[in-house]
Amino acid sequence: MRTDYLIIGSGVAGLTFALKIANHFPERKVTIITKSEEAESNTKYAQGGVAVVIDEIEDSYEKHIQDTLLAGDGICDAEIVEMVITEGPKRFKELVAWGAKFDKNSEGEFDLGKEGGHSENRVVHHKDQTGFEIERTILRQVNRTRNITILEYHFALELILENNRCYGVYMMNENNGNIEICKAGYTVLATGGIGQVYGHTTNPEIATGDGIAMAYRAGAKIKDMEFIQFHPTALFDETASETFLISEAVRGFGAFLRNAEGKRFMSDYDARGELASRDIVSQSIYKELKDSQQKCVYLDCTHLDGNEFRQHFPMIYRHCQDIGIDIAKDWIPVIPAQHYLCGGIVTDKNGKTSIEHLFACGECSRTGLHGANRLASNSLLEALVFSNRIFKYISSTSLISLTVNKEFSEWHPIQKGEIPSGYIKETEEELQLLMRENAGIVRNDADLLSAKARLIQLQKEVEGKYKQYVITTSLCELRNMIQVALLIVEQSLQRTKNCGGFLKTNACVAV
Ligand code: FAD
Ligand code: SIN
Repeated sequence: MRTDYLIIGSGVAGLTFALKIANHFPERKVTIITKSEEAESNTKYAQGGVAVVIDEIEDSYEKHIQDTLLAGDGICDAEIVEMVITEGPKRFKELVAWGAKFDKNSEGEFDLGKEGGHSENRVVHHKDQTGFEIERTILRQVNRTRNITILEYHFALELILENNRCYGVYMMNENNGNIEICKAGYTVLATGGIGQVYGHTTNPEIATGDGIAMAYRAGAKIKDMEFIQFHPTALFDETASETFLISEAVRGFGAFLRNAEGKRFMSDYDARGELASRDIVSQSIYKELKDSQQKCVYLDCTHLDGNEFRQHFPMIYRHCQDIGIDIAKDWIPVIPAQHYLCGGIVTDKNGKTSIEHLFACGECSRTGLHGANRLASNSLLEALVFSNRIFKYISSTSLISLTVNKEFSEWHPIQKGEIPSGYIKETEEELQLLMRENAGIVRNDADLLSAKARLIQLQKEVEGKYKQYVITTSLCELRNMIQVALLIVEQSLQRTKNCGGFLKTNACVAV
């Protein structure tokens, strides 16, 4: 199979790029492959919104830039921060023009929410389902575009490379189990996050770090993997199989964080209280729980206007109600959970990776925007801005034909037989526990070293199985997650100074 532009992933990053390049070159072929059904992505679950400066009276680019730099704790690339924030409003207007609906206030202006680390109200949102609205809107545009094909249940296995140039991917068509080649003039990795490496995560099952692992194996530069963002307020529900997020916008709306004794503790840690940046709130909750030996802290919404709450956060309200929590009377039990990866595949300001004809966009990329801790609601913004920059860059440099005439060897499976049942699940659970216990909110070198040793063993074992048995996507995901875990652990060992979301209790000098 051949395509001019291959996009791996159908979240906000991949879909936005695909739509733009397809409209610009209507005679060219744009192909999106995605490993699940087309809407499944981290994007679909985004709650709080998109941080963007549209109130030019109270707010300013300068304030949003300063908030982003402060949250990133000295590790952001200031040029990228300025670029993303000043380009944001145009990208937001495009979304609105495509049909995305964002909440408005009684004056008919966009309702601007607040989240941790923001000095002003600047988060545009669609109730507590902003990501669903964005995904729905862009997908509808993509599905109407004649020269875009979406291949659902197609799993990217490995990039095809020659002389540091990417020519496409090997992919498994999960509908028939065949491994096929997709040759492409340009390839964009938009494969999202890594939450499943930790298991206790706000991310859905697709978040297994495939793009980062593939890029790493292909020799791309990967950086800042130690900066894992833990969201402070995932619902604490021991009966649930998936972790439900209670948006930071709920604290922006006025909710208090209390410990089991009822004390509002955040002002003991930061003058901004509940609206300190996410890294600080998560680390503070960690300390509260360690000191008290309790299992969770609580979000208290009982003093808030119940009707307004229900209007702003209908999904959160309903979810709590379904499990017997009446937010008008009960505190919501919460605990930090893995939420976001600040690092990833290194790109320049046009989304170019260190491999020719290979671009990365969205959560799998490391652009320099987030530094050591992403400011709330800057992720959707980053994906919107960078997908546009990749489009602009590629469209100005690819006016000639993109046909790839080279031939590449077929995938040569030497595997026989099925992997023993239970192996993947057991190994995945071991990996997730290992990462939670040794590479969580607070780390130390001794634990990281022992995790590294075990991960190397697991990697060897899984590589053996990968060569021995018939390949399945769950085996490939496990292989990718182990690779990502190793990158997190190794880069955590290398970092010697604490900053942002990175906290090691030994051998560290606070910045
Ligand atoms: P995704 O949306 O995750 O899309 C990745 C795509 O790649 C998926 O379609 C997946 O199936 C596909 N894929 C992965 N591997 C393969 C493979 N091997 N082969 C083929 N396809 C593959 N950010 C904000 O800015 N504001 C918010 O309010 C906000 N709230 C959030 C709430 C939750 C619960 C979560 C989980 C995240 C939230 N975030 C928020 C973060 C933000 O949603 C994500 O960072 C962003 O949507 C990532 O977009 P993406 O396009 O890079 O990746
Ligand atoms: C949230 O709604 O709390 C998530 C916002 C984000 O991840 O930026």
